[in-house]
Amino acid sequence: MDAVAAATTISETAEWATLDAHFAEVRGQHLRDLFASDPTRATELSLEVDGLYLDYSKNRLTQETIRLLVALAERAGLRQHIAAMFAGETINVTEQRAVLHVALRAPESESILLDGTDVVPEVHRVRRKMAAFADRIRSDEWKGHTGKPIRNVVNIGIGGSDLGPHMAYTALQDYSDRWRTFHYVSNVDATQLWESLRDCEPDETLFIVCSKTFTTLETLANARSARDWLLERLDDEAAVKKHFVAVSSNAEEVRKFGIDPANVFEMWDWVGGRYSLDSAIGLSLMIAIGPGRFGEMLAGFHAIDEHFRTAPFERNLPVLLALIGIWYIDFFGAETQAILPYSQYLERFPAYLQQLDMESDGKSVDLDGKPVSYATGPIVWGQPGTNGQHAFYQLIHQGTRLVPCDFIGFAQPNHAIGEHQNLLLANFLAQPEALAFGKTREQVVSEGVAEEQVAARVFEGNHPSNTILATKLTPYTLGQLVALYEHKVFTQGTIWNIDSFDQWGVELGKMLAQGIIPELEADSEPELHHDPSTNALIRRCRGLMPDDTSFQRSES
Ligand code: F6P
Repeated sequence: MDAVAAATTISETAEWATLDAHFAEVRGQHLRDLFASDPTRATELSLEVDGLYLDYSKNRLTQETIRLLVALAERAGLRQHIAAMFAGETINVTEQRAVLHVALRAPESESILLDGTDVVPEVHRVRRKMAAFADRIRSDEWKGHTGKPIRNVVNIGIGGSDLGPHMAYTALQDYSDRWRTFHYVSNVDATQLWESLRDCEPDETLFIVCSKTFTTLETLANARSARDWLLERLDDEAAVKKHFVAVSSNAEEVRKFGIDPANVFEMWDWVGGRYSLDSAIGLSLMIAIGPGRFGEMLAGFHAIDEHFRTAPFERNLPVLLALIGIWYIDFFGAETQAILPYSQYLERFPAYLQQLDMESDGKSVDLDGKPVSYATGPIVWGQPGTNGQHAFYQLIHQGTRLVPCDFIGFAQPNHAIGEHQNLLLANFLAQPEALAFGKTREQVVSEGVAEEQVAARVFEGNHPSNTILATKLTPYTLGQLVALYEHKVFTQGTIWNIDSFDQWGVELGKMLAQGIIPELEADSEPELHHDPSTNALIRRCRGLMPDDTSFQRSES
């Protein structure tokens, strides 16, 4: 499958060696000089695709760097790998699955084959079922057990069954039906469920239990406690039918839980959890914004899918972002990637991208099971601007680390109040400028700063960033942005020759927790066989735990 011959890893190719040599030339150059020596730099190193504008000129690279990185992508077989994904080939090799989230946003007129069967009609069948259900909730036609309409929607899920819909609901609140409240419960810490339910009336509350596998400990614990909460108050098993629906690919486990099979929305094993926002996992979002706007979001995804699939790599937004990331991670040695949206509505976007990127590309063996000899996925983090400016930007500007940043902003506000938008945009534009160009010793001295104060006020600059600008945050733009990062992560995983679609690294901790549960619950002191540190911590927890840890809803 991989175009890099089995005997050669990507870091042993001539393309990598050429980039290494090129790095030795570029690393010492300052962005001030790169801009001064090339008046066309800002236009040459920027690109607009379907209203999404990427300025990557404030990166420590030249057009030659891009050319060499594109050659690396070609050598890694990126073109073939993209085609393989869209063709439904088994590119998730360790789980032996196809990876077809692109089918979730394909128009009905298209077909995508998996083992000879077109999956697009099935996707649209489930979407129609979602839309019919969402419309019934939104029009108040769907009534709860006592005949009242649904006022609160509680999504229970974790990881991809939470982060996507939660992020997208937060991002698109402005397009949502404000009459209803939406809650997202993921943590097995009962606090989250308790806080979400304290203002909800059970006969006005709908639970959407989202779990692809329907075996996830946190989700099942929250779903069971939610059902107990409902039944304690409505005192009729029949109420579950009106107040619980599920999204899952495991119909049997859903049935065992007691949810009416008619209220189950299917998903498929070819949709990875962190790529599942466009599937029925997005049901809460669809109820919030309506099927029409949900469709607009999917159209944004699809536009970037098509661009990714067809555009030449040097004019391909996700590919460019991926290559620039690889330049910093594998050549400059950057460890992290900051995501800085200048939109409060995108508050949860960095958290969403953490799972997308870190669960996908946080791998240290390649597709042949061999340890990689190069760095892979970065630590992804961030906060919305301008809040981050008053918290951690200090380190990015004057610390000792290289932190590549993605600035994401919108020209038009969702709410035009006073001069807020101009202030927001001014900051969005000023930060990449300050990071790139800094402030020289001469400038500081010319301001009359006392000699002993000068060093602390100098900004070295040369800190790289991408600027992504769209007209306005809409369902369509959100779809574009998410697809942009999905394909970025895929491109990087392809070049690193890793499986971006498995997540074995989360399994060990889950398994050990299963063993510790009975040890915490045992009436008498259990025999412990962990390491001495874990044994001591278990004993200490047992000593400090309350006698009754069952879920209790305080009336306070
Ligand atoms: O533990 C990791 C993970 O498997 C994620 O990949 C996934 O998004 C999440 O758990 C939830 O899984 P499920 O939807 O099966 O409950």
